[in-house]
Amino acid sequence: MRDGKGAIGETLLTWYDSHARVMPWRVSPTDRAEGERPDPYRVWLSEVMLQQTTVAAVRDYFRRFTERWPDVGALAAAEDGDVMAEWAGLGYYARARNLLKCARVVAGDLNGRFPETAAELQKLPGIGPYTSAAIAAIAYDEPVAVVDGNVERVVSRLFSVDTPLPGAKTELTELTAQITPEDRPGDFAQAMMDLGATICTPRNPACGICPLIDACTARAAGIAETLPRKAPKKEKPTRRGFAYVAMNGQGDVLLERRPDKGLLGGTLGFPGSDWSDAPTPAPPMQADWTTSPVEVRHTFTHFHLILQVHVTRTEARAMTPRADFRPGDLPTLMRKVWDAAQSAEWPQPE
Ligand code: ADE
Repeated sequence: MRDGKGAIGETLLTWYDSHARVMPWRVSPTDRAEGERPDPYRVWLSEVMLQQTTVAAVRDYFRRFTERWPDVGALAAAEDGDVMAEWAGLGYYARARNLLKCARVVAGDLNGRFPETAAELQKLPGIGPYTSAAIAAIAYDEPVAVVDGNVERVVSRLFSVDTPLPGAKTELTELTAQITPEDRPGDFAQAMMDLGATICTPRNPACGICPLIDACTARAAGIAETLPRKAPKKEKPTRRGFAYVAMNGQGDVLLERRPDKGLLGGTLGFPGSDWSDAPTPAPPMQADWTTSPVEVRHTFTHFHLILQVHVTRTEARAMTPRADFRPGDLPTLMRKVWDAAQSAEWPQPE
């Protein structure tokens, strides 16, 4: 029998063998036992998509990406605009730009092979400490600590860590490293994630059916639900701005691609003003603009945004043909702008 910390890994892996969630990028414990290995491309793609996004939201995107670009070479050869359009709605668009950069480094400089260690993976664009550890563990069974939000919760409860997050991060990573087994560290990481998502939940954890109940010090002390502690969040400020939806008589639409740097960088959208306490109106041309009665509200990581939407009909500029315009290819904010524009009193075509 292993010591206490070693026993956690064994117990959790046994639980995972019969409770692993089915995910399109995963190799099930059964298939793995028969020798199947995960495809590093699919592991990398899923982990980048899962940064800041839920499994439920990622599934369909993952399926569409892998049908259209089944390997890293195919993705590296894709048009930037096609990838941005497929990414539309997932948010955090820097991830999509880095995804392409990374695919091109791997397909070009590395002959299509992903590095096999967390340290090497982390040198690639868009791959930070969490993602490099996740790929190295899941795709290559490197025994590194993989610590996402679910794992933070599980570990803070197992060991009753009451330091508030984010300060507790280093301590939680160290404790995760101590319980990560040499055997099947990738399955262990995913088992921790599944346990956090399905049993060791933020509220009302289902301790009665938890495979780690005997090891959990927070459960024994009756404080599981109070952990992890979190430093109080700062109130998000609210910024304002203007967005402009111009259409010509054929229903063609004026769109522009945003600069690569900054929020929504590299995505397609409607022209607009700065976003601030007192934005300066910035219509893309002189025209008879009317204001939609519906304002757009959207929340980014660090602020809330309220946009006033102005619409016009004009023949003054070349526009994106209606047949090429798919609102679904726009980021969510711009889709909301488009929806708000539908509520405006549009001038009739001339
Ligand atoms: N979140 C991020 N990566 C995951 C994975 N491989 N399984 C479950 N949840 C995840």
